Amino acid sequence: MMQELRERVLAVSKRVLGHSVLGPAWDFHCHLLPGVDDGLRSLQEARAAIEGMQALGYRGAVLTPHIYPGVYDNLPGQLQEAVHDLQQRVGDDFTLRLAAEYFVDESLFEAIERDDLLHLPVLGHKLVLVEYPMLQPSSCADDVMLTLKQAGYQPVLAHVERYRYLRWDRDSQLARLQQLDVWLQCDIGSLVGQYGRGPQQLARWLMERDLVALWGTDLHRVEQLQRYVAPGLAVLQRNRFRINPMLIDSVAG
Ligand SMILES: [Fe+2]
Repeated sequence: MMQELRERVLAVSKRVLGHSVLGPAWDFHCHLLPGVDDGLRSLQEARAAIEGMQALGYRGAVLTPHIYPGVYDNLPGQLQEAVHDLQQRVGDDFTLRLAAEYFVDESLFEAIERDDLLHLPVLGHKLVLVEYPMLQPSSCADDVMLTLKQAGYQPVLAHVERYRYLRWDRDSQLARLQQLDVWLQCDIGSLVGQYGRGPQQLARWLMERDLVALWGTDLHRVEQLQRYVAPGLAVLQRNRFRINPMLIDSVAG
């Protein structure tokens, strides 16, 4: 099954990218850890996803399982064990690093206070991936971002193109994020319509203005690689963007 998937992804990547690899590339946002959130469901799926990512040229990934009190009560220690276990099972050809995707609500203040946030050290920054509620803005979002900055973290907003309320008020919302010095992450699949027309337009608008600090597969299912990630990577490649060059030396090294 894995061999078959690898061949399918290779065929798609050859067709859309013109060759089989982008590489070396690192993913910044994905849900590869089996069974810890709404991402991949088994070790077999995780292996298949990693095979597919390797076929696209990825050499490693920053794993960002959801941490969302009451929904995904993942604890840093348990996640670290799960990453260690997965790394042993997949071998050294694909390197895993652990961060998380934190849901922004009041509980994040306590996590900052406890000083146990899963973050990724990159070029002197401590990157913390955060997601806003999808349907309506969080009243504490700005405060959370400011508190993260004061605690020495660099907040990165996950899939900025997907919040409808942000798209409706794009210029002032983006200006506010810039003022707060929040970095923006976009999902690669958004470039080709994985989440519909609105996110696609904003992802392309942000790409054209070079406002995206980090690109992520936000992978939840293996099939998304062929359907959205490979064609999305082709859009980035046509526009001469490299995938997350800041991660290559600092994380992979
Ligand atoms: Fe995610």
